[in-house]
Amino acid sequence: MLETKMKVAFYGHQRQYHNIKREIDANIQEVLESGQYVMGPMLAKFEKELAEFHKTKYAIGLGNGTDALWLTFMALGIGAGDECITTTNTFFATAEAIWIAGATVVFVDSDARTNCIDPTKIEAAITPKTKAIVPVHLYGQCADMKAIRKIADKHKLFVIEDNAQAIAARGDGFRIGELSDAATVSFIIQKNLGTFGDGGAVVTNNSEIDRIVRKMRNHGYDKRSCHSYGFNSRLDDLHAGVLSAKLRHIDEWSDDRRKWAARYSKVLAGARNITLPYETPGYRHVYHLYVIETRQAKHLDPLLKFLNDEGIDAKCHYPIAIHQQEGYPWGKCARLSGSLKHAETSAARVLSLPMFPELTQEEVQAVIEGVVAWDQSSH
Ligand SMILES: Cc1ncc(COP(=O)(O)O)c(C=O)c1O
Repeated sequence: MLETKMKVAFYGHQRQYHNIKREIDANIQEVLESGQYVMGPMLAKFEKELAEFHKTKYAIGLGNGTDALWLTFMALGIGAGDECITTTNTFFATAEAIWIAGATVVFVDSDARTNCIDPTKIEAAITPKTKAIVPVHLYGQCADMKAIRKIADKHKLFVIEDNAQAIAARGDGFRIGELSDAATVSFIIQKNLGTFGDGGAVVTNNSEIDRIVRKMRNHGYDKRSCHSYGFNSRLDDLHAGVLSAKLRHIDEWSDDRRKWAARYSKVLAGARNITLPYETPGYRHVYHLYVIETRQAKHLDPLLKFLNDEGIDAKCHYPIAIHQQEGYPWGKCARLSGSLKHAETSAARVLSLPMFPELTQEEVQAVIEGVVAWDQSSH
């Protein structure tokens, strides 16, 4: 047992709120006093800021990141009989959104180092029914968008980036939203840019995606007072106000995440029983999660328990690949393309250490000491 037990939380939501309370409270106050709470001026302001941030022409605020995905699929006409290629070691919502749109999910394996989609596996999965590739920028690092774009161009496919996890990340010479038809964002509280509840957005340069998603999020309503088939998936102005205040800080918060990640990686480099996250050279990884892997699957539960017993709130993202979950595919259309060996192996070994900008030096040290103590004990 370690001598001192410092509790280290997995998230720092209240700390973040306290750090910029005045800015958040001022925006909330502004919305409350405006009398316009749904589709109001704060939403319009935030959408403008979000588009500017991504250097895209459009940003559409939505109810959550899952809706952002399937509304984009629908806007592109993707539905029953169509296939979308993605990965199986992602949060469930990536696949779920493809199913909600009525399409078939085709899973390919992920890259052994980044855990993002392996572009070399994509072409073998393409059939005449394939309509889109849906890369996930997993854990805060961009997938290899240049390779994905080339394949999409060759086969005339759409690319929709599931960017729930990597706002403010960059690739080697490309931005998120630059090499795709659209990128989707999630603003649920635990994301790098999170509101006090749910929220999401689509960012795009495609005016048709903007027009259709904008219309469908609001019961198919447009300015000519006419309704058509649609849904209710609006981003409330109160959330837009919170997000607008937080967006100003996202780059500095990403730097802080990178700083803590660098600290973890430096000190844990000598550990024998784990592997550390891989940063693709030239990419800006924003460490939504700092995910290590145990070298042996049988070590995952003991390490998790050891850290939790020491007061360190570690978690697993995502311990069961989607196609291995009970009941898969739940009556929906799905296909596995080739071996998914890497994704399966990785899922059984992943462990996320506490990672948020407001961590302290002492907390990071306590996490490191916990991992080192486990690493040096009895294997
Ligand atoms: C990779 C990924 N895709 C999609 C989503 C869905 O976002 P939301 O929870 O806002 O619907 C999430 C997060 O929850 C996610 O991590």
